[in-house]
Amino acid sequence: MARNDIVDVVSGYVRLGKRSGSNMFGLCPFHSEKTPSFSVSPDKQIYHCFGCGKGGGVINFIMEIENLSFPEAVAFLARRANMALPEQENDRESKKRSRMLALNRDAARFFYEQLSSPAGQRARAYMDKRGIGKATATNFGLGAAPDEWGALDRAMRAKGYTSEELFEAGLIKKGRNGGWYDTFRDRLMFPVIDVRGNVIGFSGRLLGEDGPKYLNSPDTLVFNKGSNLFALNLAKKSKSGYILLSEGNIDVVSLHQAGFDSAVASLGTSLTAEQARLISRFTGEVIIAYDNDGAGQKAAQRAIGILEKLDLKVRVLQMSGAKDPDEYIQLRGPEAFRQLIEGSENQVEYRLGVIAAKYDLGVDAQKVDYLRECEDLLARLPNAAEREVYCRRVASQTGISPEVLIGEVKSRRSRLLRRTAATERSSPERQSQPVERQLRYDDPASAVAEEGLIRLLYLDGSLAAVAGLPDAAEFSSPALGHIYGVVRRRLGEHRSVSADALGGELSAEEVSLLVRILQKPETLSNSKRAMEDYINRIRQRRRAQSDSGDLMQLLEERRKELK
Ligand code: CTP
Ligand code: MN
Repeated sequence: MARNDIVDVVSGYVRLGKRSGSNMFGLCPFHSEKTPSFSVSPDKQIYHCFGCGKGGGVINFIMEIENLSFPEAVAFLARRANMALPEQENDRESKKRSRMLALNRDAARFFYEQLSSPAGQRARAYMDKRGIGKATATNFGLGAAPDEWGALDRAMRAKGYTSEELFEAGLIKKGRNGGWYDTFRDRLMFPVIDVRGNVIGFSGRLLGEDGPKYLNSPDTLVFNKGSNLFALNLAKKSKSGYILLSEGNIDVVSLHQAGFDSAVASLGTSLTAEQARLISRFTGEVIIAYDNDGAGQKAAQRAIGILEKLDLKVRVLQMSGAKDPDEYIQLRGPEAFRQLIEGSENQVEYRLGVIAAKYDLGVDAQKVDYLRECEDLLARLPNAAEREVYCRRVASQTGISPEVLIGEVKSRRSRLLRRTAATERSSPERQSQPVERQLRYDDPASAVAEEGLIRLLYLDGSLAAVAGLPDAAEFSSPALGHIYGVVRRRLGEHRSVSADALGGELSAEEVSLLVRILQKPETLSNSKRAMEDYINRIRQRRRAQSDSGDLMQLLEERRKELK
């Protein structure tokens, strides 16, 4: 994983800054916080959050944040290393990758050329119908896939690409009779271009009647739908200060044409966390402009949740009288759309609107339910001024006194805070406990010594060869025993004990625990002595335990004697 420097990888998700010592700090991506307690150590190649306790190496980080298994995370990082270093031409896979990118670029050029040839007649007519101009087509590199079975295949093979290469790029498919045929036929082609300017795949809109309305490139070496956004290559250059998130490719094209140059779409998937993180690299604010139907509104709700986790400011457009941004602009013009953006609701207003829509506020009983749901939402707003503003709004809407609502929200909020504080408060006893609940220590005193022993082995691997080390079974904590056993065995085999190397053998909780253990201070000045001390304390506990065991036995015998 040497090519996946942890600072580099983490920076893709967390804005790291504020160096303290050799560590860098940022806002933890795993829990919500306002002050940075998430640290990354470039020297040790580990991360650790002082707030939620999560920690590990670069693989653990990817497992956690991308929700992948260990082998998946390794593959993810391998892929990432290749993408980050396209000049690493000795690597077979990266050679393949750059070949595929070249092929995609040539294919895009081919489709683009078709647009002004007789084969592009249908696509041109369709663009006219949808009001897409020539300049816009060029800006997006739109193209036409001819209504033929092998036009692209022939053109690309004439350029020296093999059918195998075309197949792997998802551009041709295998027919039943063993021949090849073009994937995209008789479609308006939208190349998908990543933020580095590579053509990574295609989205093709149906022109005739046959087949699905949209066809996207399958996942390939260079393309994955859920981790890319259509038009982000253009939107990232926008000066608007926000990203406009819409559903459809046509919406995006139409928005750009009307001057809204920060529009993107999520390639037919509902917004993924990875796409949201990609967006957060370029902006602090997202305006959602999804379709006006039920599905679109549901998708907007989901997207709000995902975007807010990344501390992005979210607003939602309400387009009445049109089904999507494209139609809105066609019907009312760009100026009306601009006003929509200016007057667009922030997420609090939007959510209150969603709650209001569920109830008939003319019915008292429903009004009460409405208020209860609003209180819950308002109590969670971090900003006091915001809480007050919306309390007053809801109060006037329902005709109750604002003071009553403000008071209610206030007490609900302090209850909420008390509850969080109670779970976070750490008594000294708790402090020696791991934050991973399933790894509680039964015997904190012995666990401290067990942790110390692990730390020493880590700092000085040669100690693993010292005679008289305890067995893992002598540890009071099964988790610590397991970590110790793995570390000791690996040291014996002269294998790496980096947090990453251990990720395959330890659970995520155990790796987090290990990282935290390693961060507690330890000096190596008298490591032999310290080690003996730790070992004694572990064995003392065992002795004490078996002593008390003997005592119980004695009492039992006494009792029998007395009978
Ligand atoms: N989509 C897809 N596969 C489909 C349908 C839709 O991948 N079978 C994706 C496309 O990226 C499309 C988006 O979902 O752009 C939104 O779908 P839709 O609203 O149907 O398409 P529009 O681009 O808005 O096209 P139109 O205006 O012609 O309806
Ligand atoms: Mn649409």
